[in-house]
Amino acid sequence: MKITVIGAGNVGATTAQLLANAELANEIYLVDILEGIPQGKALDMYESMPIMESDTKLYGVNTYEQTKDSDIVIQTAGMARKPGMSRDDLLVANANIVSSCIKEAFKYSPNAYYIIVSNPLDVMTYLAMKITGLPRNKMFGMAGILDTARYRAFISMELGVSMQDIQGLILGGHGDTMVPLPRFTSVAGIPVTDLIPPDRLEAIVKRTAGGGGEIVSYLKTGSAYYAPAAAVVQMVESIVKDQKRILPCSVMLEGEYGYNDVVVGVPVVLGKGGCEKVIELKLNEDEKALLHKSVEHVRKVIQEGMQLINM
Ligand code: NAI
Ligand code: 2OP
Repeated sequence: MKITVIGAGNVGATTAQLLANAELANEIYLVDILEGIPQGKALDMYESMPIMESDTKLYGVNTYEQTKDSDIVIQTAGMARKPGMSRDDLLVANANIVSSCIKEAFKYSPNAYYIIVSNPLDVMTYLAMKITGLPRNKMFGMAGILDTARYRAFISMELGVSMQDIQGLILGGHGDTMVPLPRFTSVAGIPVTDLIPPDRLEAIVKRTAGGGGEIVSYLKTGSAYYAPAAAVVQMVESIVKDQKRILPCSVMLEGEYGYNDVVVGVPVVLGKGGCEKVIELKLNEDEKALLHKSVEHVRKVIQEGMQLINM
């Protein structure tokens, strides 16, 4: 297993470290435009492997030749938010960065699975798919696992119970219009709506939707990376070990939920075939309306993004 992580910043480096610690790859290539940064971080991680009892080998590079024939490519390069910015405010900067990185990576690894992380996530995943022509089982985005993890953590804080017993789902775009689904949330099989009163649940849903912004407001110089990196690793693990986990990921819809040619978060099965299946939930009218709003928002930003990369 050879994995390339593009972007040796907060998310990229943390992802590489977690992947290596878990020995999910034989080799990891960390790519960045900054000279010395990927080399230094990769070597530092390599030197931690004897302690971590992992045989993963890590290399830092500034060009893509050595990433040739990667099995999985993770795209994290790009600008991160600062306080007061929305993820969509990153569109202009990141459309060009993502497009140049993906073109280079694809040249050397046309058969890899691609996990997109750069924001605005759904739009970047769409652009990357159009640039490469890859089908949706080979290229998809990480966001839903992160948003759902925040939601699960907040429910656990509210109830004082184990996070492991909390199951939940968030659909839609990775932004203010994301769609947490209390009706599909349970705690050890008990519907969350039986355990948390509506006003508290609404506050949790609101905090979840603003979860990324909450971290940005603390950090000030950038955005979250520990939970995002953990979310990427969960996707990689499900693919590498063919676990067939059902995880919310950002994928191209091909008629599911009544939409085509748009990338948003929905539950999928992740296994050795990548995104092997999209799962369609039976939504009620309120949930459908929320998803529609989210899809329409993502579509609008996709159009702007396509113009930026002249497609
Ligand atoms: P960061 O600023 O720490 O790292 C970004 C790295 O990309 C930097 O090292 C920079 O030198 C590199 N870079 C910029 N242009 C490049 C190019 N053309 N080629 C190669 N490398 C290049 O940012 P961080 O925190 O790692 O975030 C990265 C991206 O991931 C941001 O767009 C952020 O919004 C997004 N993100 C998305 C999440 C999601 O849920 N999908 C969660 C967290 C972050
Ligand atoms: C987040 O939700 C930055 O999109 C990223 O934290």
